[in-house]
Amino acid sequence: MRNILITGGAGFIGSHVVRLFVNKYPDYHIVNLDKLTYAGNLANLKDIETRPNYTFVRADIADLDEMRRVIREYEIDGIIHLAAESHVDRSIKDPFTFARTNVMGTLALLQAAKEYWESLPERYEGKRFYHISTDEVYGALELTHPEGVDAPFSTKASSGQKHEAYGELFFTEETKYNPHSPYSASKASSDHFVRAYHDTYGMPTIVTNCSNNYGPYQFPEKLIPLFINNIRHRKPLPVYGKGENVRDWLYVEDHARAIDTIFHEGRVADTYNIGGFNEWKNIDIIRVIIRTVDRLLGNPEGYSDELITFVTDRLGHDMRYAIDSRKLQRELGWEPSLQFEEGIEKTVRWYLDNQEWMDNITSGDYERYYEEMYKGR
Ligand SMILES: NC(=O)c1ccc[n+]([C@@H]2O[C@H](COP(=O)([O-])OP(=O)(O)OC[C@H]3O[C@@H](n4cnc5c(N)ncnc54)[C@H](O)[C@@H]3O)[C@@H](O)[C@H]2O)c1
Repeated sequence: MRNILITGGAGFIGSHVVRLFVNKYPDYHIVNLDKLTYAGNLANLKDIETRPNYTFVRADIADLDEMRRVIREYEIDGIIHLAAESHVDRSIKDPFTFARTNVMGTLALLQAAKEYWESLPERYEGKRFYHISTDEVYGALELTHPEGVDAPFSTKASSGQKHEAYGELFFTEETKYNPHSPYSASKASSDHFVRAYHDTYGMPTIVTNCSNNYGPYQFPEKLIPLFINNIRHRKPLPVYGKGENVRDWLYVEDHARAIDTIFHEGRVADTYNIGGFNEWKNIDIIRVIIRTVDRLLGNPEGYSDELITFVTDRLGHDMRYAIDSRKLQRELGWEPSLQFEEGIEKTVRWYLDNQEWMDNITSGDYERYYEEMYKGR
């Protein structure tokens, strides 16, 4: 495979995937296609933007003609599809944008790839359409751990087991889809379309469902960068409900490595769950962030605890997500590389050291810059 289209490469996870592929595969031509919505920021890719094996294309995945043109022009062999609207709170306010990008956009990309690949003599031979999805499509799990352990759960030993009284302990690849938010409903729908293109037309597709990611370059509307930035500026830290909801956190570079492994070695038409066996109650993770930021800024212990502000819970807030990623470990040998303590330390340091990146976003400068740069196009 030579020409790889990565969609959403100017976003958080996409930028890590683009960087990994551009650096690791000098023989591949990496085409990063991104609409540059509020969440897309080319500053995330400054270090690789002049590489000879890298091209950026500004386009909307929901524009079918444009997808046809790009896939044909760059003779795309493989697609890693990350472009999406990704923030649950925004989906609650504006579900239509999520349906347009996540559902219709994915469909346009599938259709354009199908038409191009079916026009070639080798058709689907050596081709791959890899769709990145989320664990949120599975719905929510019970909060209470059957063994009575409080979060953060030490789940390695019992992962994947079923428990009569509490239902499923973890999301496995067999868990039925049961999305609750407009975001997860739109992702679930796009996953179904991807599988339908395999089942109906024989397109070589793969879907992966990953847990919450954290790390550098995440847009500061999401919990970890938002809170690091707010602590730094002594702003309130808004915690939904009582902060009891549990999420399973994975360092973003570990996700990018998993994507690389699965793109090259994953079985066509299969699904892999990706997670770090690393569950935290929101309130506990917030305390870890506060402790780390205060320590790195030289503040006394407990200095920023007073910033915690409990706010009305998110509508339909899923209680717990937890991924069983043993299939990926067993079949393809992938494992998370970082312990959480190490990952969170690296992450906090990165945001504190890259204040300019953060200020650029919070001031809106980067959006104005793109508007100017792409005016009339
Ligand atoms: N962040 C997580 O914790 C997480 C976890 C599991 C799965 N995912 C999935 O991974 C993917 C990437 O997530 P992220 O957190 O990096 O998101 P993000 O919001 O940081 O980035 C999304 C990118 O997609 C681009 N985009 C949006 N609409 C577009 C359109 N119509 N056409 C072209 N580009 C468009 C944006 O400009 C942005 O660069 C998403 O599909 C998301 O559902 C994310």
